[in-house]
Amino acid sequence: MTPSKKVITPRPLVVGNWKMHKTASDTRDLTQDIVKRVERVANIDMVICPPFTSLPAAHETLGRHSVIALGAQNMHAAKEGAFTGEISGPMLREFGVRYVILGHSERRQFDNETSEKVAAKAISAVGYHLRPIVCVGETLTQREADETTAVVESQIRSSLSGFPSEQIDELVVAYEPVWAIGTGKVATPRQAGEVHTKIRKLLIKIFGPKGSGIRILYGGSVKPENAAALMAEPDIDGALVGGASLDARAFFDIIEAARPTRASEHD
Ligand code: PGA
Repeated sequence: MTPSKKVITPRPLVVGNWKMHKTASDTRDLTQDIVKRVERVANIDMVICPPFTSLPAAHETLGRHSVIALGAQNMHAAKEGAFTGEISGPMLREFGVRYVILGHSERRQFDNETSEKVAAKAISAVGYHLRPIVCVGETLTQREADETTAVVESQIRSSLSGFPSEQIDELVVAYEPVWAIGTGKVATPRQAGEVHTKIRKLLIKIFGPKGSGIRILYGGSVKPENAAALMAEPDIDGALVGGASLDARAFFDIIEAARPTRASEHD
């Protein structure tokens, strides 16, 4: 498939999704270890997303001017209210959070997270100056039934319904084939690249030429060994990393693989 014609080349972004791992004290250690490795890395944006209860510890450890930004793994669309167990945008902002993962397949699968809910959360997020990372991806059954394009297109259209076009610089999309998450079964660069190019074309159709600047991350068993080949695909602008982001060395190696230039002064 011919790559989409990019008007804007997005700055690469690597996001670590820690899922339900790391207590606050574990978080301090891992964050310190990551910071030590990446503090002189340039030309790339880096984010870690610890669990809610570890956000204050990560925020403290990172300090004010860290090269690593902080992200959350979910949020509620409302500012406040009678929503037991939920966390709002302003609560996240208080701990320096800048990004929020929305519609991760684990939440779609286990917590009834619909694309409609994701759309409301994405709109709310940008209202609180949080960058939404909107996740989409097909299951194995859907891929085998040749439904990948239709599923991903429909998830994107409904998860971004009503998203304010003047805020698209803030938007990040993550393509994560469900069958590749935590399974060690990574999509081949070609499989992933094809879907990314379709997503890029769709984003340009929805938002106009500025859609070419939206970062589209690949996620699903990204490891130091496969990262460079995935990142070489023209419409893959970075990675959403689960398991490997819990290992500072592996996370650093993935970041290095995603950087546009590997200047020797940083070695
Ligand atoms: P994984 O998870 O890298 O462990 O496959 C990716 C994700 O779920 O974001």
